[in-house]
Amino acid sequence: MPYDLDAVRAHFPALAVSDKGAPRIHFDNPAGTQVPTMVVERMRDCLLESNANLGGGFRTSRNADAVVADARAAMADMLNAASPDEIVFGQNMTTLTFHAARSLGRALKEGDEIIVSRMDHDANIYPWLLTARDRGLVVRWLEFDTGTYEFDLAMLDRLLTDRTRLVCIGGASNLLGTLNDVAAVTRRAHAAGAWTYIDAVQSAPHVSTDVQALDCDFLACSAYKFFGPHQGILWGRRELLESLEAYKLRAAYDTLPWKFETGTQSHEGMAGTAAAVDYFAMIGESMASEEQGRYPQFEGRRRYVHAAMDCLFEYEKTLADSLIAGLESLPGVTVHGVTDPGASDRRVPTVAFSHASMRPEAIADALAKRNIFVWSGHNYAVEVVKALGLQDRGGVVRVGPVHYNSHAEIEMLIEALEAILH
Ligand SMILES: Cc1ncc(COP(=O)(O)O)c(C=O)c1O
Repeated sequence: MPYDLDAVRAHFPALAVSDKGAPRIHFDNPAGTQVPTMVVERMRDCLLESNANLGGGFRTSRNADAVVADARAAMADMLNAASPDEIVFGQNMTTLTFHAARSLGRALKEGDEIIVSRMDHDANIYPWLLTARDRGLVVRWLEFDTGTYEFDLAMLDRLLTDRTRLVCIGGASNLLGTLNDVAAVTRRAHAAGAWTYIDAVQSAPHVSTDVQALDCDFLACSAYKFFGPHQGILWGRRELLESLEAYKLRAAYDTLPWKFETGTQSHEGMAGTAAAVDYFAMIGESMASEEQGRYPQFEGRRRYVHAAMDCLFEYEKTLADSLIAGLESLPGVTVHGVTDPGASDRRVPTVAFSHASMRPEAIADALAKRNIFVWSGHNYAVEVVKALGLQDRGGVVRVGPVHYNSHAEIEMLIEALEAILH
């Protein structure tokens, strides 16, 4: 069966909700997606049947052990990790990144250099700036081209020196939608002897993520951005995770992945995250038979998940093209991001725009009155908004369709904007 939007939407009860007859139109997805029923069911089952701490001999504790093991295996499949031991769960990407930055900082010396990017969400910038402050590190900034909305990797080559220890970069921009060539960044960083820390929060919901093919050193993402519950996931290369000092309690395990998981985790969150991965696998098995052939090296769930991501991204590209064309047809609208239809492989469908006279928050409020959900402002991409000179103009309006959105919803948005913008 090819991609079947109606079948997909039937998995998400939230998409069928309306308010006084007006359907809810979710274009707020880059800030958090809706969840399929199977995620809710798995979380409920966890709380009802596996509600205990880990490592006991009694039934609920053994069930909880199984929930955790399954979640690690699921995330290892989604990220193509070499081992589930390389998967660390935490509250969210920001908390995990602060945690990782503290440990990584211990391995760096005064005068060592790190590179952060002007395109990233602050969660992949500020933890590193604070670590740099605490450890006396030199921070270098990788700018993006404000004309193409992409990085010029020649600039990265100029920034890398024999003192560079770490390059922090996003898989996709949460504001511009630009999809970055992480493998190329990692190749360059490794050639200079530096590690890479990848913020995949906005790429993981849209494209297949393969940490071994990217050859990165750390990669963080958030399940609530890919149809799961509020939970963060950090993958790290085994040797590095083993060698880094973890900020942990004395009584906690010294082994992977436990040494990086502080306190008691959200087991129900893990159950939901595993169900979100299984949701992708279900799509991959039932709707992506063609794409499965692209992953002969994988088996079972791993193969289905990666095939699903390719299938969903193909559909999302059509949404991005219609959205950009619709926005560009509106007088006074500027789209901030890659707009060339031939370049839809180089962006996720998250699209930012501004208007010549109407402020972003006023546009978002007017859309909210029509039950169309979007975000406005900097959305924590503070450096991006500054680089584009949009800080004093209230940032941008961000429209973020995902695979469960329809072309009809895009048309409704464009019609609403025709009526609203003045
Ligand atoms: C690109 C990116 N990185 C990091 C984050 C922070 O994620 P979390 O809420 O899991 O800390 C976000 C959240 O919007 C994001 O879009």
